[in-house]
Amino acid sequence: MSAQDERTKTAGSSAVLLICFLVGLGASLLVGWVIFPALLYSEKEQPIDFSHVVHVDAVGDCEGCHYFRDDGSFSGIPDLSNCAECHEEAQGEDPEELKMIQEYIEPGKEIPWMVYSRQPDCVFFSHAAHVKMGEIECKACHGMIGESEHTDTYEYNILTGYSRNIWGKNISGLTSNTWESMKMGDCGNCHDEHGENNACFVCHK
Ligand code: HEC
Ligand code: HEC
Ligand code: HEC
Ligand code: HEC
Ligand code: HEC
Repeated sequence: MSAQDERTKTAGSSAVLLICFLVGLGASLLVGWVIFPALLYSEKEQPIDFSHVVHVDAVGDCEGCHYFRDDGSFSGIPDLSNCAECHEEAQGEDPEELKMIQEYIEPGKEIPWMVYSRQPDCVFFSHAAHVKMGEIECKACHGMIGESEHTDTYEYNILTGYSRNIWGKNISGLTSNTWESMKMGDCGNCHDEHGENNACFVCHK
């Protein structure tokens, strides 16, 4: 074999190697970024399609529905009695409103909302500490939900049952807004910035 042939052969096998590498890389990226997340997460729709825009207009502000009780605890999502104050009778002709009246208000059944930001049971979180003492805006942790016209699809991890919003939609873990994920490291980063204690027992009682 001449030196020339030898070089061509080496170049040829490097090209084969490179192609194998690229195909392998492509396949693992496809599994890691597309197929695995698609298999790992499942979706559910909220029981009623609820418009925040319509209701912030009707009620006036967020606190009319999401308020602090006298003991400092946070009311969270309002219960059916709040909705019934206005919806005992239909306010309009929206089919979602009629569905709510028939399936929940008339039989007196609470609407089983799914909470996008729900943390595992072992995590302690208090709205009063963050909203009242820390003066942090809702948006910093929840994004634009208060300005939404429709409820978002709820996605959950089929292995743990936890909401996808905790780990975020971007599986690289990179986020450009504080509300895109709320995992342990995200809580800890903001605590570091504010000089808060980050010992395990602060968040895990
Ligand atoms: C202060 C009164 C008020 C309260 C309290 C209230 N609503 Fe409404 N709601 C309205 C008005 C006004 C409309 C608009 C009716 C129309 O023009 O179709 C509306 C519309 C709706 C609709 C149809 C439009 C849409 O997609 O949002 C749904 C569903 C609904 N409300 C659900 C709820 C639920 C659930 C609650 C309780 C958490 C609630 N409402 C509490 C006044 C209220
Ligand atoms: C009429 C009552 C009402 C008013 C007013 C209202 N909300 Fe809501 N909010 C709800 C209901 C019902 C849900 C559950 C359905 C949903 O997720 O959209 C909810 C859900 C939320 C959630 C989702 C929490 C989670 O993780 O699942 C956030 C955040 C929120 N509201 C913020 C706001 C903000 C900010 C405002 C003011 C700009 C506001 N809301 C005004 C009734 C209300
Ligand atoms: C520092 C971050 C942070 C801020 C600021 C914040 N929240 Fe939350 N919110 C959370 C977390 C985390 C949860 C889930 C708590 C859990 O699972 O125990 C939550 C849960 C909720 C829920 C669902 C509660 C339930 O159990 O029904 C509502 C509604 C909500 N927040 C609304 C608001 C509103 C309105 C504001 C602004 C007044 C606000 N949040 C500010 C982080 C935050
Ligand atoms: C955007 C910033 C920010 C984020 C995000 C945040 N925190 Fe905090 N947290 C604070 C600040 C500021 C305080 C101190 C408030 C004060 O007492 O003045 C605090 C205090 C606390 C406390 C102590 C409350 C008490 O009763 O003593 C706990 C527990 C806590 N955070 C849990 C969490 C958890 C869990 C998460 C994530 C789900 C989280 N925090 C996300 C800023 C943040
Ligand atoms: C600032 C709040 C905060 C502190 C401090 C903190 N954690 Fe967490 N931890 C969380 C949150 C929020 C989650 C749930 C989201 C996640 O898995 O990232 C979590 C989840 C976990 C889980 C997984 C639980 C499950 O059900 O999936 C373990 C284990 C854990 N933490 C251990 C620790 C240990 C050990 C420390 C101390 C070295 C610690 N944490 C400190 C907020 C905190």
